[in-house]
Amino acid sequence: MTASQHGWFERYSPLWVIDVASGDLATSVGPQDLLDFDQIFGRRASLIVEIGSGHGETLAAACVESPDKNFVGFEVFEASIASTLGKIASTGTSNVRLIAADAISGLTHLVPDHSIDEIWVFFPDPWQKKKHHKRRLVSPSFADLVWHKLTPTGVLRLATDWESYAVAMEATFAQDTRFTLASRQRFGTRPLTKFESRGVAAGRTIYDFEYHKVGS
Ligand SMILES: C[S@@+](CC[C@H](N)C(=O)[O-])C[C@H]1O[C@@H](n2cnc3c(N)ncnc32)[C@H](O)[C@@H]1O
Repeated sequence: MTASQHGWFERYSPLWVIDVASGDLATSVGPQDLLDFDQIFGRRASLIVEIGSGHGETLAAACVESPDKNFVGFEVFEASIASTLGKIASTGTSNVRLIAADAISGLTHLVPDHSIDEIWVFFPDPWQKKKHHKRRLVSPSFADLVWHKLTPTGVLRLATDWESYAVAMEATFAQDTRFTLASRQRFGTRPLTKFESRGVAAGRTIYDFEYHKVGS
């Protein structure tokens, strides 16, 4: 971490990073009590979860854009958590919390079923080589986990700049009849992040998907 990141982490992590019990792996979460987000935020509000929140550009924009909603970011990389804390501090808002852990084990062990209004996954690590595709976040088992965590009217938003990942995302949700594709338009308030800029600069197409949960 840079000196600035250290400073942000020291100052703001006690306020905005949710303390969770670690699991067997470095970034995993162990079995524990489910989180009570109404208590954590001190209010009941729509819950939006971003998976792999990176440097926090999206969360920082969203919490200002929608002060009436509660936001939670899962991010495994501590320096990115620190940068996000710095950005959130500069917004002056208090409707964001971070969880420094793997989102799969975090969603599984920390988040009550049918409690999240929207899940966002923007520019997940592409794992481009075919032999690494199995490491990709978005998969049939991910779709199943997301379905269980979303509210009955819940929404999943995805974006990627890698065509083969976009094809795989679409195939995954086409096979899962518990979701419908509602839009391929860029989500209105999604800001241009550093990762997206790199994709655009390299000439790659950006793919956006909005899926709606079907059934409860
Ligand atoms: C390519 S970056 C994109 C960051 C951000 N969404 C954006 O659009 O700028 C992917 C991020 O996901 C994080 N990440 C990867 N796997 C994760 C997981 N299982 N749980 C939480 N974060 C994860 C990485 O550390 C990285 O910050």
